[in-house]
Amino acid sequence: MPAYLDHNATTPVDPRVIDAMLPYLKGPYGNPSSLHRFGRAARDGVERARAQVAALVGAQPQEIIWTSGGTEANNLALKGLCTGKPRTRLLYGATEHPAVMEAAESLGRDGWVVERIAMTADGLVDWPAFTTQCATGSVRLASLMRANNETGVVQDTARAAPLVHGAGGWLHVDATQAAGKLSLSMTDTGADLLTLSSHKLYGPKGIGALVVKAGVDLAPLLHGGAQERGLRGGTENLPAIVGFGLAAELALLELEARSAQVHALQQQLEAGLRNIPAVTIFGADAQRLANTTQFALSGWDGEALLMHLDRKGFAVSSGSACASGSGEPSHVLLAMGIDPAIAKGAVRVSFGKGNTTDEVRSFLEALQGFAKQ
Ligand SMILES: Cc1ncc(COP(=O)(O)O)c(C=O)c1O
Repeated sequence: MPAYLDHNATTPVDPRVIDAMLPYLKGPYGNPSSLHRFGRAARDGVERARAQVAALVGAQPQEIIWTSGGTEANNLALKGLCTGKPRTRLLYGATEHPAVMEAAESLGRDGWVVERIAMTADGLVDWPAFTTQCATGSVRLASLMRANNETGVVQDTARAAPLVHGAGGWLHVDATQAAGKLSLSMTDTGADLLTLSSHKLYGPKGIGALVVKAGVDLAPLLHGGAQERGLRGGTENLPAIVGFGLAAELALLELEARSAQVHALQQQLEAGLRNIPAVTIFGADAQRLANTTQFALSGWDGEALLMHLDRKGFAVSSGSACASGSGEPSHVLLAMGIDPAIAKGAVRVSFGKGNTTDEVRSFLEALQGFAKQ
C-alpha cells in the first residue's frame, strides 16, 4: 500500500462525512432560498453546518460566509476589504500562500501600496520591523497566516491585531492549515476575518468559509445573489456545505486525539531525520504544526527526491502543492533567508489520521538509502 504523507495538500474525505453528504445528493434537493418545504429542508442543512463551522472557531453562525475554499476566502478578504476604499496600504506576510500574495499584488496593480511583512530565520514575524511598518501610516488590512502550509510554523497572529488596529486596519488570518490541527478561535487569533477550507480537515473539496466579524466593512466579489447576506451570491453547494459542517464538528471533537497521534509520528520522523547527517529541518526551532515536517536532503533536488519517493510508494510534496512543478525554490524558505541551493531540496511530509509508525519507519529506511547515493 502506498503511504500518503501529503495531508497539507489535501485530506481524504472522512467516511462519516460522506455518509452525511449522501442524503443531500439523493434527498433534500431543494434550493435553500426557496420558501417551500424542499427549500426549507435544504436551508436547515445549510444552517446546521453554519453553526458547526462557527463552533470550530468560536464564532457566531451569522459570521460564516461560504466560499468555494481557501483561495476564494482569501481573495474575498483582501479584495472585499479594499474595493471602493481610498487606496492606502495593505501588508501581507512574506511566507503567505499564493492566494493571499497574488490577491494582494493584484490590488497593488490597482493603485494600493502593497508591502510584505518580513520574517525571521524561523519563519516568524519580525516584530520590530512590523511594529515600525504599522506605525508608518494608515493600513487598510494586514494578512498573516496562523500556520504555514510548507513549514508548519505557527504564527502568533494575535500579537499583530493591536498593531494593525492602531494603524486603522483589519487583520485577516489565513487559518486554512491551522483548522483541525490547532485549537482555533477568532479571539485567540486576533482575527477580524479568518479563512477556512474544508478539504484540509477531512471534508470535501471546493467548499470553505470566510469568517467575518460583525462590523467589518466588506464588499462582495460576486454580484447577483442575496445569499450569504449579499456577500457571496450563488445557490449554495448543499452537499459540500453539509459535509464541511460535519468535518468541522468532528475536527473539534477529535482535535486532541488527532494531534497526539500525528505528533508521535512527527517525533519518530524527526528523530530519524536527525540521524541522517545530510538532512536540514526547516523552522526546527519554532512552534510548528504537529503533523508537518519540511526538510532537505543535501545533494538532492526536492522534486527529484519526491519522484524517487513516489516510486517507492511514499507521497510527499516538494513545497506547497501549487508551487510544485515550478522548479523554483519555495518563496517561504527564501523569505526565511534559506540559501536557494538548500531550499531547492525541500520536501514536505504532512501526516494525517490514517498514518502509522510502520509507514514512518519504512519512509526513513528509503530516505537513508537515498542519502547514501
Ligand atoms: C495556507 C493556505 N491557504 C489557502 C489555501 C487554498 O485553499 P483551497 O485549496 O481550499 O483553495 C491553501 C491550500 O493549500 C493553503 O495551504
